[in-house]
Amino acid sequence: MSVATIRPYRSDDGPILSAIVRRCLREVNSRDYPADVIDRMCRHFTAERFDQLATVRQVWVLEEAGTPVGTVSRDGNKVFTMFVDPDRAGQGIGRRLMTHIEELAAADGHDHMETGASISGYGFYHRIGYVDVRESDTEFGLNYILRKPLRR
Ligand SMILES: CC(C)(COP(=O)(O)OP(=O)(O)OC[C@H]1O[C@@H](n2cnc3c(N)ncnc32)[C@H](O)[C@@H]1OP(=O)(O)O)[C@@H](O)C(=O)NCCC(=O)NCCS
Repeated sequence: MSVATIRPYRSDDGPILSAIVRRCLREVNSRDYPADVIDRMCRHFTAERFDQLATVRQVWVLEEAGTPVGTVSRDGNKVFTMFVDPDRAGQGIGRRLMTHIEELAAADGHDHMETGASISGYGFYHRIGYVDVRESDTEFGLNYILRKPLRR
């Protein structure tokens, strides 16, 4: 089993992260959202978009043997863009990425983490300790705002 590393985004990650996100959208999120929303999200998550996001947020990459298999982003105590290679789902990668950014947010003094979960990600966040705050309508459809208290 190769060692997994979580590291900051590099500009050459854009194409592979874009490919992971688009596979998730087509293979997983498409069960919960209509085709036009999935198409719009696929158009949104280009390699260049990741370069832009990395200028305004911390974008983290979990890689194994030099290959990115998951990503999550953080802006303070807010979570964005949590995606794991569908071939690697259910192996603890999402939990590891979330633990990583939760520890960083706690070290920055935040007392809770907040995420906007898709319908598809909702069960995952509940499983790792997030609780419902409210529902929210976004340009990409229904989202659930969830929070988790952080230990400081
Ligand atoms: C949702 C997602 C990020 C989870 O990542 P993952 O690496 O598969 O999750 P993990 O293996 O770390 O799972 C942690 C726990 O959550 C559970 N879990 C994972 N996905 C779940 C889901 N969709 N519903 C309910 N529970 C889930 C796991 O079974 C595991 O439970 P355990 O502690 O009892 O073993 C990933 O499946 C994904 O990228 N999905 C498609 C994109 C997406 O919806 N992203 C979220 C956007 S808000």
